[in-house]
Amino acid sequence: MDKLVSLAKRRGFVFQSSEIYGGLGSVWDYGPLGVELKKNIKERWWRSMVHERHDIEGLDAAILMHPKVWEASGHVSGFTDPLVDCKQCKNRFRADDPRIKGTPGQPDAQCPGCGSKGTLTAPRQFNLMFKTFMGPVEEQAAVIYLRPETAQGIYVNYLNVLQSSRQKIPFGIAQIGKAFRNEITPGNFIFRTREFEQMEMQFFVKPGSENEWFENWRAERMKWVEGLGIRREKLRWHQHGKDELAHYAKDAYDIQYEFPFGWQEFEGIHNRTDFDLSNHQKHAGKKLEYLDPKTNERFIPYVVETSAGADRTTLVVLCDAYREEEVKGDEASEGGDTRVVLKLKPSLAPLKAAVFPLVNKDGMPELAHKIHDDLRRYFNVFYDDGGSIGRRYRRQDEAGTPFGVTIDGQSTQDQTVTVRDRDTLKQDRVSATKLVDYLTQKLAG
Ligand code: GAP
Repeated sequence: MDKLVSLAKRRGFVFQSSEIYGGLGSVWDYGPLGVELKKNIKERWWRSMVHERHDIEGLDAAILMHPKVWEASGHVSGFTDPLVDCKQCKNRFRADDPRIKGTPGQPDAQCPGCGSKGTLTAPRQFNLMFKTFMGPVEEQAAVIYLRPETAQGIYVNYLNVLQSSRQKIPFGIAQIGKAFRNEITPGNFIFRTREFEQMEMQFFVKPGSENEWFENWRAERMKWVEGLGIRREKLRWHQHGKDELAHYAKDAYDIQYEFPFGWQEFEGIHNRTDFDLSNHQKHAGKKLEYLDPKTNERFIPYVVETSAGADRTTLVVLCDAYREEEVKGDEASEGGDTRVVLKLKPSLAPLKAAVFPLVNKDGMPELAHKIHDDLRRYFNVFYDDGGSIGRRYRRQDEAGTPFGVTIDGQSTQDQTVTVRDRDTLKQDRVSATKLVDYLTQKLAG
């Protein structure tokens, strides 16, 4: 993991937030390559969930919502983690921290921070929502929350979307947006952070059909994850036991990935029943029933939710792509006999190609600039004329750039270039006029 974190910083994928001030705990910024990678993942999700389906609509709800939303959703009372304090070192830990020996609140409990015995308090519930104030007065009446999940923005708009889009049940609403949780034990780089992005879809169905839709969405979501190019043996399902289920869920399955720190979830499929809509109906005093135009039945729809973290999915993609390899042949003598390479699926890679003049003379830079200008109209491409060609290839391997376009002596004679494939290291000679078509074909999928 340390190697990936260091590559992410070195190559401009992810930086610690406010680093020059010593950093802000578990908050991260995406650099030039990271923002492209995460954007490509989000766009792929949006395309498959909204554009390619006739039964799902998109939404972008505000982060700030009426405070009663979070009472109705159960987050004010139920979105908590049990915490213990050490009276000696003043540190805070989750009560289920595996490093705690003994029972917190009892004399035998040992603080995992300072090692003192009997200094840990009994567990207390700690709400994970960030609070802030709306308007100029810092008083209880003005308290609002930063949303801890994007789903609620969808529930409170379900009738607006239904009516304006003229959808009929079953149908879904999809949204990508920021969520915030004051996590007690954040960590593992961008795996668990206090500010993150979710890609969530709520699918509204007739009561009684939710189990079928639940299975349907489980299959759809695994297919999408596999489409990211993730190795199948690194993926598995985990069904929540009774003690793991969130306060709103009747059934839940996680898609887990085998991270360097173990198997962990990065997406969940939840049967939320009519929990959220019924509670909003009660708290808002507004009818949220659906009138079935065929049967004239009225009911509150059940909800099957698919909820993925954009940052966690980005981490999965990065971890799965990271390889250290031996290099043989010409490339070994030019750039060294080992390389670090991100074998990202080409359509997800931040940069699609890099353009290299072999040397900075003999008309090569002029032709290379022209090719770079032509390509950038279609793809995100990079120009690099610094150092040996072997070193330039290696830099792009670390960035996950799938193709290296080299302009050499022959190029100025016959307008052809070599295209080096990041994974096979094989080179094709391609006419400069056919380069856009060649790359378009290779980047599909
Ligand atoms: N609306 C349902 C919901 O929020 P969740 O299991 O709490 O369910 C869904 O979160 C996904 O959001 C997780 O699988 C994960 O990818 C992402 N996520 C949750 N908390 C996160 C955190 N603190 N940092 C990064 N991603 C997080």
